[in-house]
Amino acid sequence: MSELSQQIDTYITNLFGPRYDHPLFDDIHTAAQQAGLPSISISASQGHLMHVLAKIVGARRILEIGSLGGYSGAWLASALPPDGKLITLELEAKHAEVARANFKRAGLDERVTVLVGPASRSLERLIAEKAEPFDIVFIDADKGGYVGYLKQALQLIRKGGIILGDNTLSGGVLDGDASSGIGQFNQAIAQEQSLTSAIVPVMKSHVDGLSISVVG
Ligand SMILES: C[S@@+](CC[C@H](N)C(=O)[O-])C[C@H]1O[C@@H](n2cnc3c(N)ncnc32)[C@H](O)[C@@H]1O
Repeated sequence: MSELSQQIDTYITNLFGPRYDHPLFDDIHTAAQQAGLPSISISASQGHLMHVLAKIVGARRILEIGSLGGYSGAWLASALPPDGKLITLELEAKHAEVARANFKRAGLDERVTVLVGPASRSLERLIAEKAEPFDIVFIDADKGGYVGYLKQALQLIRKGGIILGDNTLSGGVLDGDASSGIGQFNQAIAQEQSLTSAIVPVMKSHVDGLSISVVG
């Protein structure tokens, strides 16, 4: 199964790759790995999918929870208009530093702000400041935090905007374990009346899931 997943990821990436600055995005991966960051970013084909979703909703403002080295952030930020904004939240100062350098390398730094610290606190601050609503919130940090991030995201997203959750077919959910952070998050998006949600399989070195929840 993992070989098929890899084949699908490679096919989609090679098919659409020439439309995007793939060598640059590959550089982002390489720089993150050379800086000693873990290889846990989204795949290229998932990046394509999220880029297309950002275009579909006409995103001008995107919020990301979990920057790592800026790989998914680059896919999202490159779908924004030049005056658009990606705010990405990261706990680790070192990851944030690598992400900032990568956004600069990709020529996206003017439309990206990396906020360092626990995401729940950065989100609290954005809510308190009455930040302009976001078109997309992408959740991809500590899995135990997902349900809390969802509650906070609901206060920051516009009607018609989408909340994306990464890794939503992992965390034991396929084996019937609903108690993990992911299991609880999936239950929460399924039950939240203000959301209409789906989970689509995405291809990495293995199959995983991306939840897509539209507000309203
Ligand atoms: C799976 S990685 C993100 C990958 C990234 N979205 C990508 O695909 O390129 C998760 C990131 O979340 C960060 N993180 C973990 N707990 C966090 C927290 N409480 N607040 C903010 N970031 C956190 C980790 O340091 C790590 O960089």
